[in-house]
Amino acid sequence: MSIVDQIRQGNVLVLTINNPPVNAFSPGVPEGLHAGLDAAEQDQAIKSVVIIGGGRTFIAGADIKTFDLPREQSPDLRGFIVRLDAFAKPTVAAIHGTALGGGLEVALACTYRVAVKDAMLGLPEVKLGVLPGAGGTQRLPRVVGAQKALEMMLSGNPIKASEAAGLGLVDEIVDGDLLTGAVKFAEAHADARPLPRISEKTAEGSPEVFAAAREGIKKTHRGQLAPSFIIDLAEKATTTPFQEGWDAEASLFMQAKDSPQSRGLRHIFFAEREAGKIAGLGKDTPQSEIKSVGIIGAGTMGGGIAMNFLNAGMPVMIVETAQDALDRGLATIRKNYENTAKKGRMTQDDVEKRMGLLTPTLDMADLKDADIIIEAVFENMDVKKDIFTKLDGIAKPGAILASNTSTLDVNEIASVTKRPESVIGLHFFSPANVMKLLEIVRADKTSASVLATSMALAKKIKKVGVVVGVCDGFVGNRMIHRYSDEARQLVEAGAAPQDVDAAMNGLGLPMGPFQMGDMAGLDIGYAIRQHQAKVAGKPKPDGWLDRIVEKGRKGQKTAAGIYDYGEDRKPKPNAEVTQLLSNYRAEQGITPREVGQEEAAKRLTYSLVNEGAKILEEGIAQRAGDIDVIYIYGYGFPAYRGGPMQYADEQGLKNVVADLEQYGQTPAPLLKQLADAGGTFAGWDKGAGRG
Ligand code: 3HC
Repeated sequence: MSIVDQIRQGNVLVLTINNPPVNAFSPGVPEGLHAGLDAAEQDQAIKSVVIIGGGRTFIAGADIKTFDLPREQSPDLRGFIVRLDAFAKPTVAAIHGTALGGGLEVALACTYRVAVKDAMLGLPEVKLGVLPGAGGTQRLPRVVGAQKALEMMLSGNPIKASEAAGLGLVDEIVDGDLLTGAVKFAEAHADARPLPRISEKTAEGSPEVFAAAREGIKKTHRGQLAPSFIIDLAEKATTTPFQEGWDAEASLFMQAKDSPQSRGLRHIFFAEREAGKIAGLGKDTPQSEIKSVGIIGAGTMGGGIAMNFLNAGMPVMIVETAQDALDRGLATIRKNYENTAKKGRMTQDDVEKRMGLLTPTLDMADLKDADIIIEAVFENMDVKKDIFTKLDGIAKPGAILASNTSTLDVNEIASVTKRPESVIGLHFFSPANVMKLLEIVRADKTSASVLATSMALAKKIKKVGVVVGVCDGFVGNRMIHRYSDEARQLVEAGAAPQDVDAAMNGLGLPMGPFQMGDMAGLDIGYAIRQHQAKVAGKPKPDGWLDRIVEKGRKGQKTAAGIYDYGEDRKPKPNAEVTQLLSNYRAEQGITPREVGQEEAAKRLTYSLVNEGAKILEEGIAQRAGDIDVIYIYGYGFPAYRGGPMQYADEQGLKNVVADLEQYGQTPAPLLKQLADAGGTFAGWDKGAGRG
């Protein structure tokens, strides 16, 4: 088997691409395809050509790993497409699995496209911070019209072959064997002349369509480069000859590809996939089968966690201590589903199906048959220890015992059981049915099998699982504590909270630290600070934020926190808070100074980076990329910045260290070491800096 096999079937030459796992357009693929076209050209008996993917898919796109190679080393997708479009004999793309990006562009340059009905077709380049760069922006609007093409290219989401057939993007749906159907189709169209070429068609689209798209991306893709390029190019497809649009596409593609935004998004694409790999755990690590789930606690977290499993069709038993709490929990889950149904994203039948999988109980002993039990009760060590002691006596042997703790020591929780190897932390993020992140907390004695099973389970419930070690706050919350401290200090020094938030909004975070604090509830941090001081025998904390809480301003839930909230729930600065801040500074002898947005953004972001470096050194996270994945899926860090660690790499670690020092922070030893050596976190991940 070669990278592109040539097999004659009567008068049809079949070219099969064998480049597992996803038949990306890697080096060797264009050469193989050209050789196939050469053969078809030279052999008079060959009347038509079929291009098909071997294995599980058609071409899933250009090879993203080659994006940073010098041009002469990267596979020439555009060159191949030019030849394919001009080819004198009919060509048929036979599509199964996914035809994405460059894959769909190859298919669009063929004379015809046939597909099995569950195949998916799309141009997802925008998700990588680029645009379709091999004719997609010019050909797709010529087939489906500019409006639909923009919808597909701006969302990046693929459509089903059945929908594509309705749009004329697929010429025939093949029932049964794809290759047989494709060869038959190729034979039937062998003599069609002139050959229909998409590049010779005109594209439909009115100025209103483009104006609406430009308005739309202000909300969906604020601050991003590629989406506006895509709109400009789709517009070109409707107004200029093909060649002009094709040339413009090439130059805008290069511009987008070489931007930090695309580097950030590509980093996250690979980091997300790397995060699923656990050092020292082979693919053959035994996993247990999870067919039923027990959840302790029907509050906001427990209910949200339950919904993930119900959505995946898994039966869930949920435990509470009192009937009214149980009833409330169930009612909230139902209400959430019914709201989804009202928006048309689920049928009433789906709601009932999910609710039918949910069994409420007041007796923890009912969890005796559950394959995994997740505790989601109040964040208190004694309460958790008590529950795990009981669970140890109830759960069947081999069941996974998980805690949804966001900060507590999972080793200590495991220590009360006789089976610490079965205990793990599964830290969901609120709202647990929405947020994609799952921190999988590996305790000292957690077994490899429990870890591997938990990672597979994360995938099953469509979460991005990231393995972290035990420490206060694990990765995400430990970093956010440092970040919140820094934000408080900025205000102490003289910044207005709204300016600090604006600095982070400017970086693309939907919420700055104070908007986030108000949303989460200021009383939570307050309680933690008071508790920690008490335990440490320190005086009662009395910072400006503590004083705000003591005025009853707890955040959005009281319509007043650092900001005021009206009907529109938009944060508005409050005069009383402004006064409280100036009194506080005066009392502390602080002369307020102007804090610029640049300083605020740097101090906040680099406080995350510095804590992240410590986390890496301590082995709490396996990779800098894992930290980035956590920040993007758990804390709203914009994916196009690649996460805080990638952002630091982009700024240059030497500059990060210099800035940290200028702002009076001590750079973490790993950060300093990498900066001194001219290294990056990405390089460290690849093993360059690790022993
Ligand atoms: N290039 C290089 N590697 C790729 C790749 C690509 N286009 N697509 C997937 N891979 C790799 C993944 O990194 C992963 O590698 P690993 O096993 O070493 O971690 C492996 O293939 C399998 O991928 P997934 O784990 O994602 O497998 P799934 O079955 O879950 O998903 C998929 C398959 C839907 C094809 C998904 O991988 C995907 O969405 N890939 C990206 C598709 C894409 O963005 N294509 C456009 C590329 S840009 C382009 O074409 C530019 C052009 O217009 C010029």
